[in-house]
Amino acid sequence: MIKKVRTEDLKPGVFVHHFNCGWNRHPFLLNQKRIKSDKTIQRMLDWGICEVLIDTDKGLDVGEGPSLAEAARATDTAITEIATTAPLPRPHIPTHQEMARARKVRHEAMFFVHDMMEDIRQGKKIKMDQAYAMMDAMEISIDTNRDALMYLMRIRKKDEYTMMHSINVGVLLLTMATLLRLKRESRLHLALGGLLHDVGKVKVPAQILKKPEKLSPEEFVEMQRHALYAQGIFATSREVPPEALQMALQHHERIDGSGYPFGLKGDAISIAAQMTAVADVYDALTADRCYRDGVSPIDGLRFIYGGCGTHFNRKFAHFFIKAIGVYPVGSFVRLESGLIGIVVGSNPDLLRPVVRVFYNDSRGWPVALRDIDLAKPLGHGGGDRIVSHETANKWKVDPLTLLR
Ligand SMILES: [Fe+2]
Ligand SMILES: [Fe+2]
Repeated sequence: MIKKVRTEDLKPGVFVHHFNCGWNRHPFLLNQKRIKSDKTIQRMLDWGICEVLIDTDKGLDVGEGPSLAEAARATDTAITEIATTAPLPRPHIPTHQEMARARKVRHEAMFFVHDMMEDIRQGKKIKMDQAYAMMDAMEISIDTNRDALMYLMRIRKKDEYTMMHSINVGVLLLTMATLLRLKRESRLHLALGGLLHDVGKVKVPAQILKKPEKLSPEEFVEMQRHALYAQGIFATSREVPPEALQMALQHHERIDGSGYPFGLKGDAISIAAQMTAVADVYDALTADRCYRDGVSPIDGLRFIYGGCGTHFNRKFAHFFIKAIGVYPVGSFVRLESGLIGIVVGSNPDLLRPVVRVFYNDSRGWPVALRDIDLAKPLGHGGGDRIVSHETANKWKVDPLTLLR
């Protein structure tokens, strides 16, 4: 049986099925391991691994942990409760009506970030006026219907990871800042910090950034330095707000002190950096890379939930889950009728989003694309319900082809 247990409950003889973190976030060569000594457990704790999945068929059993299926069910129930208790307002304008503007905004953001990275490489100043104008446009789109930009986040080329990741973290932070009703200046500073949070990666050699294999310990240390490199880069751009520098320096810090580069704990990490940590991890996990496919949006939320109170500030992690919803746009779902579709818009009732169906699994054939608004009754464009999440990989469909 696969079950989730706390790292501190492990003992020699246990078989670790999964380290419950990204493969560059643990120090071991393989993703599975039989624990031979207490030293291994201490190394895991030193690396900030709080919980792991163990296989009790291949090694000793420990702890009182639930089975994987029980843990997954409990997580999904908790996510649904967080998102649906005092839910955040959802857009009244259908997503497809906002899509044209969202695409234009995203396109402009791609040009801006590309040019900005080039300017930084050449030691030039960041064009702050352009940055704020672009973020104003982004905010109008988010205010009108935040699902549109979120949906477009799912569409990215694998080799554009750093650029798209910067934009997406900016979008996620601006969405949180807008929903939190922060002042305009704070909203823009957060969004700018999101765009710039990984700016230090321009100093990390490309062969490390794009290496498909597991990084060596030395390469991993160099990769981690990107947080510190931001300081030197921002020294030449005095207009960059202090919040943005803190976000770049501290976005890999974790509130239990297990992060880097300083191992800061709790409130020693700036509020802006605590918010960035959540958006950064969610986008990094859900992105396809050159060397692996990203996880589904719901798996991204499950991971964020799992890190509440240890890696992430609980308040911000819960707020993030509320902002994204139970069925994030871009998620693949199965309906009770056997239809398979992708979530293209949300409704005030978070459990009943708008789903674009493309396949009938009961009959075993594709169907013409059509939207089912699950908030509406049968005969009025609705009349179905979601029974489970599906993985995009299983259906081999590019979300882009499902956009009209
Ligand atoms: Fe980073
Ligand atoms: Fe990042």
